[in-house]
Amino acid sequence: MARTRVVIDTDPGVDDAVAILLALARDELDVLALTTVAGNVAIDKTTLNARRLVDLSGRRDVLVARGAARPLAGVAGDASEVHGADGLGDQVWDEPRTPETDETAVELLGRLADEGPLTVIAIGPLTNLATALARDPLFDTRVERLVVMGGASFQGNVTPAAEFNIWSDPEAAVRVFAGRWPITVLPLDLTHQAVLRDDDLAFLRGLGTRVGERCAQMLEPYAAYHERWYANRDIIMHDAAAVYAVLDPSAITTQGVTVAVETGGEHSRGATWFDRRRAHENSTTRVGVSLDPERFRAVLRESLARYA
Ligand code: RIB
Ligand code: CA
Repeated sequence: MARTRVVIDTDPGVDDAVAILLALARDELDVLALTTVAGNVAIDKTTLNARRLVDLSGRRDVLVARGAARPLAGVAGDASEVHGADGLGDQVWDEPRTPETDETAVELLGRLADEGPLTVIAIGPLTNLATALARDPLFDTRVERLVVMGGASFQGNVTPAAEFNIWSDPEAAVRVFAGRWPITVLPLDLTHQAVLRDDDLAFLRGLGTRVGERCAQMLEPYAAYHERWYANRDIIMHDAAAVYAVLDPSAITTQGVTVAVETGGEHSRGATWFDRRRAHENSTTRVGVSLDPERFRAVLRESLARYA
């Protein structure tokens, strides 16, 4: 089986954690590295969390490279209300064994793209990818596929207009969406179909494994946040949907679009406008439209159950 070479660009983040553990559980994906970016929490914490998650997975072959501490313009966002002060639901962790690489995130992305076909799964603000493009204007021609969790067609989450990853660095998003790489973008209207529920938490606890227990511990405060803000305990697995799109390209229906990102606007900064008209049906930028929620849950459960 040909494995897909993957780098996950991430701001862990509870849903990032589940996405990373999903990816590391699957033989179809050759996850070479996690590149970190400030987003849900500060760069020191997202990088520490990436190291913790590689440790938790039991893998010793996955690199962790530190990326941008702030967006191209403005100040770094913060979603500690959602993800906890430490970014992973404020549990207790040992000091991780997995080191940071000497390479920066941008250097590592460039090197790995040079060394063979590469799929980048971007599940945080897009600062590292925009910086990689500024450093090497041909970088987008050397990435085989880019999958972005970001944007919203109808309703944001960090503001009514904007989704968090795009809102955190809209200038970077403009540069990334203008690139020549094939992009699959998964906005909130897609990721809100990728949901876990309380019986999934019970399933994870019932596995009797470190990964199952850690995921249940991290997801409980994340579910409580959703209950406070959305009056339901739907545990939205935004970032795992991006990994799922690479695992099984047939699992998510898509539509050709162009994407415009608002960088100005008193209330609209970070908003994304998807032009879904037929003229764009053959666009190499594809927006995720729908997935089968039960199939998604089954794949996620079965994958996380693979950890001993
Ligand atoms: O809006 C959801 C996205 O923002 C997810 O990637 C989540 O981890 C946060 O980064
Ligand atoms: Ca994220």
